[in-house]
Amino acid sequence: MKLRRCAVLYIEPREALTIDWPTVLAGGKALEARSHWVALAPHLDQEIPIDAAQLAALGGISYTVWRERAAAEQQYGEDCIAGLLALGLLIGDTPQYAAQHERDETLRANYWRPLSALAHTFGRWRGVTEQAGMEAPTFQALLDKFGEPPPPTLDLNPAQALKLPAVAEGALDPHLLNRYTGRNYDLSASVPLDVVARLLHRTFGAQEVRQVGPHANVLKKTSPSGGALHPVEAFVLAQRVDGVAPGLYHYHPVAHELRPVETMDREQAGALARYMLADQQWLSEAPLQVVLVARMERMHWKYRNHQKAYRAVVLDAGHLSQTFYLLATEAGMPAFITAAINDADIEKKLGLDHLRYAVLAMCGCGKADDSRREMVELRYGDTGAA
Ligand SMILES: Cc1cc2nc3c(=O)[nH]c(=O)nc-3n(C[C@H](O)[C@H](O)[C@H](O)COP(=O)(O)O)c2cc1C
Repeated sequence: MKLRRCAVLYIEPREALTIDWPTVLAGGKALEARSHWVALAPHLDQEIPIDAAQLAALGGISYTVWRERAAAEQQYGEDCIAGLLALGLLIGDTPQYAAQHERDETLRANYWRPLSALAHTFGRWRGVTEQAGMEAPTFQALLDKFGEPPPPTLDLNPAQALKLPAVAEGALDPHLLNRYTGRNYDLSASVPLDVVARLLHRTFGAQEVRQVGPHANVLKKTSPSGGALHPVEAFVLAQRVDGVAPGLYHYHPVAHELRPVETMDREQAGALARYMLADQQWLSEAPLQVVLVARMERMHWKYRNHQKAYRAVVLDAGHLSQTFYLLATEAGMPAFITAAINDADIEKKLGLDHLRYAVLAMCGCGKADDSRREMVELRYGDTGAA
């Protein structure tokens, strides 16, 4: 049997602090730090404590060149090698280790920059609820807790400032100036299908398909995209959309179609939205949610092992979100965007592999209930239009 190390591996020294109470009571300093190693490997998607012997073996075994297991055992000991194979940090070439081998190959085939794969994998949430601090604090509560924030702007070289002319009104103004983040959705309102169709098409849809090779197309959308690849696509969670059964759909950006992933009843769709949104009820009440998912395999086709690829897809999602906000505003609705989502659970629900698809954010929109403005104004100090 042959083995090699997994493709991407970072080892983090962690420490656990303990207090020795008898020493404290005797007036001494009794804070004790105990260090240990944690292995972070994106293909395994979990933090794995390892010991010093395992650390040495992982540092000495190639992640490129396969070697005989017996030779590795001779160098590092049978137990150490067996333990690392069982953990999936070493990859074996026999059927017994096929599952870890497949995950490692998927990671290799997807051209992630190792640090980006790490940041993405270990930044995802599962089952996060309000216990994790997701309830929105008021600005006053933040001031009480943290004191004054840094000033809202840079204030460089005011003595030599060039005063700019007063701003003329423009065609975009009504949308730009009325845009606000809604947390006060009207629970009885649905979104008309033609409004949803325009929102999806003008935000996520292809306005044009350009053929760049015999089987290669590039899409033109209303937002810019790094490398013109448009890796970010939309999965829709419809709760109250006229003519659409509640449930999860993929929005096809060229066909301009909603393709069902799972339909459910309205209550289930509401509960799912709340779960996906890490228990942010004020966002889950919107009749329409959209999950922004980057197809990393398309991004990495061009930007292989690239330092900036992950940053670019996150920026793409930000552009799409603002376009979505402005279109919602045009239709007379507030919108929202959030990265505080249970992305790992969303992947599971949508059947997506996090090494190929990055769930980045959720946005949504709906008609506002103006009698419920407190969540818009009090919690964040917003000044959204009524
Ligand atoms: C990247 C990003 C993440 C956000 N996350 C949340 C969130 O988790 N929950 C929420 O209620 N609002 C969220 N917001 C909305 C902001 O709180 C909001 O934009 C801000 O308070 C300014 O208000 P405005 O959008 O009405 O101008 C987020 C906005 C952005 C751009």
